Amino acid sequence: MLSEHLTRAAIQDYYGKVLASKADLKTSACCTGDAMPEPLRAILAELHPEVKERFYGCGSPIPPLLEGRTVLDLGSGSGRDAYILSKLVGAQGRVIGVDMTEEQLAVANRHIGYHTEKFGYQRPNVRFLQGYIEDLQSLGLADASVDVVVSNCVLNLSPDKGRVFSEIWRVLKPGGELYFSDVFADRRVPAPLARDPVLLGECLGGALYVEDFRRLMAAIGCLDYRITHSARIALNDPEVEAKAGMIGFRSMTVRAFKLDLEDRCEDYGQVAYYLGSIPGHPHAFALDDHHLLKTGQPLLVCGNTAAMLRDTRYGGHFRVEGNMSTHYGLFDCGPPAGGGESFGACC
Ligand SMILES: C[S@@+](CC[C@H](N)C(=O)[O-])C[C@H]1O[C@@H](n2cnc3c(N)ncnc32)[C@H](O)[C@@H]1O
Repeated sequence: MLSEHLTRAAIQDYYGKVLASKADLKTSACCTGDAMPEPLRAILAELHPEVKERFYGCGSPIPPLLEGRTVLDLGSGSGRDAYILSKLVGAQGRVIGVDMTEEQLAVANRHIGYHTEKFGYQRPNVRFLQGYIEDLQSLGLADASVDVVVSNCVLNLSPDKGRVFSEIWRVLKPGGELYFSDVFADRRVPAPLARDPVLLGECLGGALYVEDFRRLMAAIGCLDYRITHSARIALNDPEVEAKAGMIGFRSMTVRAFKLDLEDRCEDYGQVAYYLGSIPGHPHAFALDDHHLLKTGQPLLVCGNTAAMLRDTRYGGHFRVEGNMSTHYGLFDCGPPAGGGESFGACC
């Protein structure tokens, strides 16, 4: 493994100097995607072209219900997602972007005035901080101060992912949400590949093995998280393919709530109804890749899902019947997410 210092230097060089725009990426790892939903595409059309040109994300990790919220974007780069979020949180909300690479921050900062005016705000609701996502404390981000943490193709680049996840858990408010897209691997990436500057910069060398991700989340106390999107990454570069060999890489979007959950889905006979009231989701809401709640239709849910729908900012949009007073055994929550690999507690 590269030292923390060398990893950061290699990544700063890659994103600050080697890449001038997304056309310079060698693989599709940073640009697979989660097709962006239509309302977000309309916001995207309003963003400054330079911000979009230097977008290197691997998904669309923007959850609903953000108005008035404080959102933290880890590894905010040129600010594409931060500016989409700026529009979604509205004048009363706040967006904080954190990144360590000067060139990326310079692009983001250059266009604060442009977007403030474009969105009709009196003052900016977004700010970009230069620093490390492993140490949000140094940036003055207080415990339990953030409603939603997002990140787009960044956490794989961290030389100390355990610290990043514990910092995320520290700054999130109780019931707050982590919603991020990243590259994952179906096995541990061997050290020589993890050291390769191109594989590292292209978000492959540092990709977390899905089971190690589960262990990291368990270590911070998150025993159940959900996958909302998962797609195999086509490497599209013979040299990179040859180096990667049999390693399968996926781009996944993960949703996790700061809640006290169980390590397996347990059945308490609880039933959830979606009220159809989340803006942009009148007919159904997909909590994850195997929970589609249709408006008005009862759905038997496990204790963890009940808590996610009731004890978070989604709470006002669901009616959850029942409590945890009677236990009926392990909850049968259907086919495993992601085609057989285990991702968190929900099967
Ligand atoms: C793949 S780019 C993604 C940028 C942005 N999220 C987007 O979607 O365009 C990764 C970004 O994360 C930043 N980054 C990587 N590791 C970091 C760390 N440990 N602390 C802060 N920023 C980091 C890089 O500087 C770069 O701007």
